[in-house]
Amino acid sequence: MFHDGGRRTREAELVKRALAASGINFGTADEPGRFTVVVYRIDPVVGYQFVLTMLGVRDRTPMYGPEVYDDLRRRRGGPSSPPNPYGFQAREGIGDPKSVQHFPESDAPRTWSAWLSYRGDHKDQLFINAVNTFRNELVPVLDLLLGHQTPGVHLYPELWNRERRALVSLSKAMEACHPLSTVDELISQLKQGVRSALPSSSPGYFHVGVFLHSGSSWRLAGSADAALPERVDQPEPGRTPDDPILTVVQASTRPMLLLPQGLQERRTAGADGGDDVVSRPGWRQRFIAGDASGRLAHLVDHPQFSGAMVLPVLYPYDTSMTIALVVVIGVGTRTLSPSDLFVVNSLATEMGQQISPHLPIAGYPYWPDPANSDEWRRREEQPPLDFSGQEWKAVAERATARMLPETRWALDPLSPGKSGTRVYRVDVQGRNHSRLPMALKVGSAEAIVSEVMRFERFVEDTSIGQSSRVRQRVVIRAHRSDAAGGVEPGLVGAVLYTFVGGGDRVVQWTQWARTATVEEFTAALLRLCNRLDCWYDHARPLHGSVLKRVIHDEFLAKKVEPRRRKQWDATGLSSPSPTEVIDQLKRLNTGVRDVEASTMVSIIHGDLHAGNVFSIEPSVRVPARVGDRPVVAPAPDVALIDWGLTDDGQFVMLDLAKLAADLLFHVWWQQDGRRDEWAALATILTDQLSAVAGLHANRCDWRFAYVHYLAKMLFYVDKEATKESEQVAHLCPEARQAAYASLDAHVTGLIDGQELPLSAGVVQGA
Ligand SMILES: Nc1ncnc2c1ncn2[C@@H]1O[C@H](COP(=O)(O)OP(=O)(O)O)[C@@H](O)[C@H]1O
Ligand SMILES: [Mg+2]
Repeated sequence: MFHDGGRRTREAELVKRALAASGINFGTADEPGRFTVVVYRIDPVVGYQFVLTMLGVRDRTPMYGPEVYDDLRRRRGGPSSPPNPYGFQAREGIGDPKSVQHFPESDAPRTWSAWLSYRGDHKDQLFINAVNTFRNELVPVLDLLLGHQTPGVHLYPELWNRERRALVSLSKAMEACHPLSTVDELISQLKQGVRSALPSSSPGYFHVGVFLHSGSSWRLAGSADAALPERVDQPEPGRTPDDPILTVVQASTRPMLLLPQGLQERRTAGADGGDDVVSRPGWRQRFIAGDASGRLAHLVDHPQFSGAMVLPVLYPYDTSMTIALVVVIGVGTRTLSPSDLFVVNSLATEMGQQISPHLPIAGYPYWPDPANSDEWRRREEQPPLDFSGQEWKAVAERATARMLPETRWALDPLSPGKSGTRVYRVDVQGRNHSRLPMALKVGSAEAIVSEVMRFERFVEDTSIGQSSRVRQRVVIRAHRSDAAGGVEPGLVGAVLYTFVGGGDRVVQWTQWARTATVEEFTAALLRLCNRLDCWYDHARPLHGSVLKRVIHDEFLAKKVEPRRRKQWDATGLSSPSPTEVIDQLKRLNTGVRDVEASTMVSIIHGDLHAGNVFSIEPSVRVPARVGDRPVVAPAPDVALIDWGLTDDGQFVMLDLAKLAADLLFHVWWQQDGRRDEWAALATILTDQLSAVAGLHANRCDWRFAYVHYLAKMLFYVDKEATKESEQVAHLCPEARQAAYASLDAHVTGLIDGQELPLSAGVVQGA
């Protein structure tokens, strides 16, 4: 059946007759008690298994391919996780995994291989009898028909030649590729290789596309083919008959062939059609699902449509993972055949080797699209991985072992951040490595990959990025035992950062700012603003009002996401209540005549609270005087960490407004010792905010950003590291009162057009 043109071979014909005459009840009907069989022929040289014939199979969609034969393949989770829903057994309704028997049963080198499956319990007499019949009657026949092979000679030499030629043209196409080319350039070349492996097709045309998965959609990569959609959306896989074909191929890791409707009907109608590998009519629907552009439908319904294939590009180090999909659609060409599928699938396997080094992070099969913030946001809103402390530690150790092989190291937990990730200090021991410590951050693959990609895109090349640089990153699989005793699979990401200041003389601002003098703080704040200038210097106007962006759209337009709402409720705090805060924002929204048409936007850190800022004391001891001149000690350097929310196109004042709100009400207000200096510190912050706003955002007002964060901060919760369930309000009750008073004053000030200092509304010494 693999001969070009799709004709069945004589031996396939004979095997089929022998099976049909065996008395075993092969049937596709839904009632239990029926059998299926699939017979493969094994290539004596490369061991490839060619589908020879099948009987009693409901869904004859061709899901087979080199290197993957095991239909029970588990997804991620190991033996106790559910079998692959797109695997053979799930599709064919073989409910009892033991109702499957493989032949021949001996370990001797094989020339053929057959799987007999039963739709019923493996203890049924019917199954036992059929296994015996197969063993005693059919195995000798199959041996007779398929047993003699010439060692060293390919089963289908023509096909083998064609495959070799295709692989050679692929590597020729690769030679034209610069070693540092981008993934899109690389894929353009790979597509050339695929094209040259297809039958020459004048006057018809093969449309070839390679799609990369971004997590929620498929994006066409490489040079564009206007006939193909640029992106195909992927709904949450429902594992229903309506799942798009791209999802099915991705999850099943098997290539598929879709033939023209008419051809399919002709084949199934004829006596010859019973075990042809053709697609059912429902697959047309699947083929076009998720394509809003309608281009796929246009191609598949074209009167000269001559077949389509979808092939997985597997991750070479873990062939249960699909990193890209190849789509080939013929229009006006000769009809595609299983042998075309075989050849292109072989190329797809090779493509895995070429594409995988370009993966954003080793082991992570997705290509998040940084241009699409919505997609990122959606991924971040997923609940964090719910591991216990012990499980986190174990996962962190495995990830570290992967990233620092042949190294001795020790992990020390650091206080966890707010983003649902865990952070450890990694001390490297041993002679061959730098002894500088590192910070290890582990979390869901989505969160970590997003953070690493933000670092690469916005931080790496700036002076800000010097303080906490990405050294290594990896994605690993991890299982968590669930209540029912099963395991739940998950992808865990890990990233190793350089430790701020090499681990010496560094103090987080949550500590440092408590004791720094007003002068020290002023100098350090200036330094910080200088650092941030590498982003803010490129601030640009964006049409649209800042009020709408940071107040209306953030708080009033959308419902508060359920997770945050739950956190608010868990604090049990009533005064001010969420309703009171939202009412203030509504008052602002309707009260301000917002005349500004543009907002200054730039790259911002996105999470600039005192916990993400460090002060680094100078390491050189400065003498008090040189000769008779006094020496002014340099101000401590500042460093930033945590790129998880760094983004472009954000209101430029959001960072400093957040830092101001956090320092004023979290760091300082809660400290009795700071009360008398509070107003002075607030004035410094006010001046600095106004200065930065004047420089970069002269047509905007930082107060909108400040109100934005006050509103958010009133309901921040801190998770206790030990007691996961305990929700502690970020601000103590007094500080909340003060922050609310400040919010109230600034809302009024904005409505009245009054420029108030940050301290407005706050009664000190209360
Ligand atoms: N590069 C680093 N150097 C030193 N400490 C770090 C570093 N990265 C993280 N930490 C520590 O881990 C904590 C949490 O890390 P962070 O990246 O802020 O996580 P989150 O996104 O959860 O807030 C920080 O507050 C800090 O104490
Ligand atoms: Mg943080």
